[in-house]
Amino acid sequence: MSRSTLLALGVLVSGRGSNLQSILDAARAPGYPARVAVVVCDRERAPALERAAAGGVPGVFLNPKDFADRAAYDAALGRTLEEHGVGLVCLAGFMRILSPPFIRRFAGRILNVHPSLLPAFPGLRPQRQALAHGVRVAGATVHFVDDGVDTGPIVLQASVPVLPGDTEESLAARILVEEHRLYPAAIRLFAEGRLRIAGRQVVIEETR
Ligand code: GRF
Repeated sequence: MSRSTLLALGVLVSGRGSNLQSILDAARAPGYPARVAVVVCDRERAPALERAAAGGVPGVFLNPKDFADRAAYDAALGRTLEEHGVGLVCLAGFMRILSPPFIRRFAGRILNVHPSLLPAFPGLRPQRQALAHGVRVAGATVHFVDDGVDTGPIVLQASVPVLPGDTEESLAARILVEEHRLYPAAIRLFAEGRLRIAGRQVVIEETR
């Protein structure tokens, strides 16, 4: 597939960047239908920016302190993504809530990965929430982003067991393995034009 026919991804990050890494790694494989066009980060010293540099893709630090308010920040974010021709926005550990105008601007073109089996345990520290609740099964979800927090239509999910003696860290590590598998798979489905949002549900079309 020639570079120009690949779906251009804009990956938004704030920290470690292991999901970004899984996307960069997937995109290196022959035949993968997407490429990382730009990585945008809201924290200057995030390891994710080093991963972008090591992967040879542009990394942009957009400092929230440089903008008067969320609307101004999100407008600049949108401009940066459009300048790089981004067709799909991938949230990968991005710690800012996106404003409704940004979500409308990229409607149906924003994915997020969340380390729980949504709709259980949205928001912060879902692994800790899962342990506190005593669930036996936890997991990861890739979903489209809507105006709510972790509420959009679900694309893919995978479960992992919660084991006796699990800590937040051990459970998070088990879930992360699934995140790294699911996110590139969901991006592939989107890039192949196989995802259709029908109300709250996502229909995965068969390959033609
Ligand atoms: C992941 O667990 C992701 O699901 C959550 O934040 C974490 C980011 O990790 N939204 P990383 O930066 O991708 O390593």
